[in-house]
Amino acid sequence: MSIRRLPSELITRIAAGEVVERPASALKELVENSLDAGAASIAVRLAAGGLELVEVADDGWGMAPGEMALALERHATSKLPDDHIEDVTSFGFRGEALPSIASVARLTLDSRVADADGWRIEIDHGQAVREGPQALPPGTRVRVEGLFDKVPARRKFLRSPRAEYAACIDAVRRLAMARPDVGFSVEHDGRRTLSVQPSDAPTRVAALLDRDLDRHGLGVDCARDGLRLTGVVSLPTFNRGMADHQYLFVNRRPVKDRLLVGSLRAAYRDLLARGRHPIAALFVEVPTSEVDINVHPAKTEVRFRDPSAVRGLIVGGLRAALEEAGHRSVAREQFAAPVAWTSEVPNLHGWGLRPGARESGRDYAVLFERDSPTSGPSPEGEGRLSDRHSDFAPAARAEVASAPVPAFPLGVARGQVAATYIVAEAEDGLVIVDQHAAHERLVLERMRRASAISEAGGGGVARQALLIPDVVEMDEPECDRLEGAAGELAQLGLEIERFGPNAMLVRATPAPLGTTDVPGLLNDLAAELADLGTALALRDRLDHVSATIACHGSVRAGRILSVAEMNALLREMEVTPRSGQCNHGRPTWVKLAHGDIEKLFGRR
Ligand SMILES: Nc1ncnc2c1ncn2[C@@H]1O[C@H](COP(=O)(O)OP(=O)(O)OP(=O)(O)O)[C@@H](O)[C@H]1O
Ligand SMILES: [Mg+2]
Repeated sequence: MSIRRLPSELITRIAAGEVVERPASALKELVENSLDAGAASIAVRLAAGGLELVEVADDGWGMAPGEMALALERHATSKLPDDHIEDVTSFGFRGEALPSIASVARLTLDSRVADADGWRIEIDHGQAVREGPQALPPGTRVRVEGLFDKVPARRKFLRSPRAEYAACIDAVRRLAMARPDVGFSVEHDGRRTLSVQPSDAPTRVAALLDRDLDRHGLGVDCARDGLRLTGVVSLPTFNRGMADHQYLFVNRRPVKDRLLVGSLRAAYRDLLARGRHPIAALFVEVPTSEVDINVHPAKTEVRFRDPSAVRGLIVGGLRAALEEAGHRSVAREQFAAPVAWTSEVPNLHGWGLRPGARESGRDYAVLFERDSPTSGPSPEGEGRLSDRHSDFAPAARAEVASAPVPAFPLGVARGQVAATYIVAEAEDGLVIVDQHAAHERLVLERMRRASAISEAGGGGVARQALLIPDVVEMDEPECDRLEGAAGELAQLGLEIERFGPNAMLVRATPAPLGTTDVPGLLNDLAAELADLGTALALRDRLDHVSATIACHGSVRAGRILSVAEMNALLREMEVTPRSGQCNHGRPTWVKLAHGDIEKLFGRR
């Protein structure tokens, strides 16, 4: 075996594999260069998802011809004036991107500094083929054609133009969110597909992700231990079936980090059903000494010195914002279009879907959809509506509207429909509350408060002693788990003891639950504890367990409530954090505004 030094051309091509994986990564590098060059506006043109052409034109400060030649050499950068790689604030600093791209494609570099003439250099797979003067506006334009045409090994891994285009647009979106002060446009196969003007961060995020974030998003802004978190997240009821709209920026640099996924999951725990995901664009500012950005050639990953501090900041910041949102929910305009509300009862099942949601291909939760049995028995009115139609009438009861409506956000109860929904009159419209969903959330929040108090030395959740202790038979490992958690459960008002190898003795249940199905509760808890393992902090475990317990204690759909009970529920919702959604992320209430009602009757 003989060892040899590789020729520099080969070294560059090997390095290119790390920096340029697909059109989107070349595009990302070029746009970052434009941003680093102080561009105010960046125009991207793509053909066939970037496989045929990736072009980026900017109005930045440009390069003189000598600088252009140098820019195409490996390890040549203008961005590290001294050797302090720790302090870089530019996107680039490795001096690799341009030569790497040029080694695996045909690249045309046009550039002009103000007050000078423009210049063009053409490179074909690493070889300079032509250069000379070129008439240009000030700034830089880079064209990359036939990426990987001559590198079959790489070409094999490229996907369809559609998929490559999706990756390209995602790359632009990330950078456009990071720099709302810069204008961006994208043209694909001759069609304008993205265009954003300079704006502030919230407007930019909404423009790129979802315009409705303006109304259904929560602003986040908090700081802790020298770290700062800003950004926007969606209300839990404004969720998606895919975790694709979640973006993290560290010191304005878009990064892909597992930490974001975990933090979002923790923050939205018990606010979202499994398989539903929030929208998030979060900006973390950390001192440069606390983060290493040079861990990945594409600079899309970072390493935090103290990841748990960052995670804590995100989870804490988001939970605070969500708590503040209180009973806010995605309500109102779901019913705005008359199609959603007609006088025919069988249309009831169409209610919850936003009008037009299906057509526009958007993916929102179906609001009135019932999920797994853990959320309780099926409500009345489910099943084939034609069979159930007759059930509706006898279950409805009403309160005569008399005095003027006091200014409660959720209004005063006027009646109950299908023994499941509370109908209330608010100053500005008609409110419908899902009593089961709402109550489940209230029980959870009550238990949380009580258990927080008990941590602070108070009495914990009140317990209700059983006249005759209940014996529940279970598997030995399940009993072991419950026995191990007996202390925590006692704080939540559930008093249990081991009763032989295969059974537990239940002496008291949490008072907020009322009478409950004790074996069902114990089984669910055992499963929950198995899921959680022992890794979680006590506080987190209590939270999880409270949610499981709360599911068992709700006013079931199908229970007739008195007007006083209904009003008490509404008032409690108004003052309870996170009461706008149940523990599975569905809204607990919806509102039909007066204007919407008028539309239904053709009055407007
Ligand atoms: N659009 C541009 N406008 C002005 N100068 C540019 C532009 N693109 C590249 N340059 C110059 O070319 C140099 C090399 O660019 P290249 O992208 O290869 O490396 P880098 O940005 O310094 O580091 P990295 O490899 O991390 O991106 C830059 O340092 C910069 O001086
Ligand atoms: Mg660069």
